[in-house]
Amino acid sequence: MKEKTPPSNLISLLLSVFDQECMDVFVYGREARLLREKIEDSKQVADVFEQYSQEELRHADRIAMMLIEYGMQPQWRYTSFETRSSLIEILADHLKRESSMYFTYGEILKYIKDPDDKLIIEGIRENESQHVEKITHLLNHIKK
Ligand SMILES: [Fe+2]
Ligand SMILES: [Fe+2]
Repeated sequence: MKEKTPPSNLISLLLSVFDQECMDVFVYGREARLLREKIEDSKQVADVFEQYSQEELRHADRIAMMLIEYGMQPQWRYTSFETRSSLIEILADHLKRESSMYFTYGEILKYIKDPDDKLIIEGIRENESQHVEKITHLLNHIKK
């Protein structure tokens, strides 16, 4: 366990991203299956979503480890999430969520002192930035 007590803002931000990451693991996985079954020509997006589900799982795992090191017991607070009926709406929802995660990791970085934790958060944030870019690309491609 880490020696110093982290600021309570940091803990609440970490708990919040942990919930969001778990949610994204679940939502990307569910939507990848749904796209394959229900929406024609969506294989490319389904593949991306499957990959992201795995990546969000790694993020959730790293955040959980960090919370444990800070003496917390991370537990996912499930909230229901309704999947939209069109691919554009689905992608637009993810773009919003991914952008917000990118922003929140930026906030978290302001409170992190430990150099190893800083590296972990920077890595996740970089990964979220790639998600934002890719989803933006998919969205623009599909709209045309
Ligand atoms: Fe993530
Ligand atoms: Fe992401």
